[in-house]
Amino acid sequence: MNINKICCIGAGYVGGPTMAVIAQKNPDIQVTLVDLNKEKIDLWNSDDYSELPVYEPGLSDVIKEVRGRNLFFSNDIDKNIDDAEMIFISVNTPTKTEGEGKGYAADLKYVESCAKQIAKVSKSNKIIVEKSTVPVRTSEKIKEILKLNNNNLEFQILSNPEFLAEGTAMRDLQIPDRVIIGGDNSVEGKLAVNLLVNIYLAWVPRENIITTNLWSSELSKLTANAFLAQRISSINSLSELCEHTGANIDEVAKAIGMDSRIGPSFLKTSVGFGGSCFQKDILNLVYIARSLELNIIADYWEQILIVNKHQRDRFSEKIISTIEKESLINNILILGWSFKKNTNDTRESAAIYVANNLLAKKIEMSVFDPQVNNMQIQNDLKSLNSDYIENSVNLVKDIYSEISKSNIIVIITEWDEFVSYDWEYIFQKMKKPAYIFDGRNILDREIMQEIGFLYFGIGK
Ligand code: NAD
Ligand code: UGA
Repeated sequence: MNINKICCIGAGYVGGPTMAVIAQKNPDIQVTLVDLNKEKIDLWNSDDYSELPVYEPGLSDVIKEVRGRNLFFSNDIDKNIDDAEMIFISVNTPTKTEGEGKGYAADLKYVESCAKQIAKVSKSNKIIVEKSTVPVRTSEKIKEILKLNNNNLEFQILSNPEFLAEGTAMRDLQIPDRVIIGGDNSVEGKLAVNLLVNIYLAWVPRENIITTNLWSSELSKLTANAFLAQRISSINSLSELCEHTGANIDEVAKAIGMDSRIGPSFLKTSVGFGGSCFQKDILNLVYIARSLELNIIADYWEQILIVNKHQRDRFSEKIISTIEKESLINNILILGWSFKKNTNDTRESAAIYVANNLLAKKIEMSVFDPQVNNMQIQNDLKSLNSDYIENSVNLVKDIYSEISKSNIIVIITEWDEFVSYDWEYIFQKMKKPAYIFDGRNILDREIMQEIGFLYFGIGK
């Protein structure tokens, strides 16, 4: 069996960039992305590359190279499933909002509906690849669904979790630290694993491709995210300790990170981690541990989320108490709405929570972000709090025209352009006293103070 055609269900932040790179590196394989969301597929097919539904540095160049060559975007889900020998499932796996496990367990309804649809429309054997992040043993459930709905064909299930981070997705895909492929130990299972290994071998060295059993692969993904988030909550917890002791968190992080056993990555303090995955994956891990009655383990991992919320809340509180104590004009400019720089993704961004905390105190604010649009801001605030009154918080097009109305700037996302702003000019224009709450420690405290700002960094 050869892989000539791949279909990927789910053209989102993972499906889009991942398939673009697979198509780029395997020009002989036809790769088609399908999605229920017609508008999204239209945007992926748009000739205006600034309209692609995912903003990711370097992505539009790859799309230009491969779209129409061997990468296609289509709404015809059934036909493309049936045509392909290998089908990636790359749909969302959010936290359940109802039923058993509500608020913790991963909602697998989208994954399960893909399995049902594959079973329904397939007329030939398929290899199904779990790309979505799923709880350990989900592949077993997928297998059951396929068997129940189509007993005539053979389906091999592989687990191939994705480790890309948004903002650096293209680099992460092109030079991955590792690729994990989990499969069955049977002859057919090993054959399927090898077919997927061969696709990655087009650009990934063999020693960076790990093959495991299905459960190890599924659990490695959840736990890798939990480890990364754990480091952020660890450094954020120390930032509060620094504020009470006179230590400086950036200096402490540097000193810790220079220990080669610890390493410097993921030790940057922040207003708290955001993004669509850390929170949901840890909740899922906590749920799995609790289901197995491993309560001490569950509490251990849950603490990461408690610290993350605490960091957002105490940062908000710092702003609120300054406004109240100093009787400041109540108009803040928030810099950054996406959950990190170089992405237009706002899911679980700390900005949404901080803005919601400020709104609860009737504090007025505007937002500037280089990639996020105003409708997204309205949707984010409404989804967090159904009492949100539309357009209470609005996006501004540039900060220079707005700044004369405020005396507080709050930095939430570490966009590079914020560092290169003309801060002296901004200071002159702002109402006085002029405050900066730097939630990412991207500005130099001494320079800001020399200019005249009252500067608060995290953990300093
Ligand atoms: P996303 O919401 O951006 O994309 C998912 C897409 O799937 C949506 O466009 C949705 O319309 C589509 N979809 C849902 N059900 C469908 C169905 N039955 N048929 C066709 N299309 C359907 O999500 P994402 O960020 O790409 O994440 C996808 C998965 O990858 C999740 O499990 C996530 O945990 C995991 N993951 C995400 C990242 C990341 O950085 N975003 C990184 C690694 C892993
Ligand atoms: C994360 C993981 O890094 C990816 O490996 C994984 O594939 C992905 O989740 C996923 O499964 O979705 P992502 O959320 O896109 O990727 O971005 P990160 O770079 O991990 O940042 C997550 C959050 O942590 C951001 O809000 C970021 O600003 C924050 N962060 C990161 C810190 O506060 N400090 C740091 O030192 C690093």
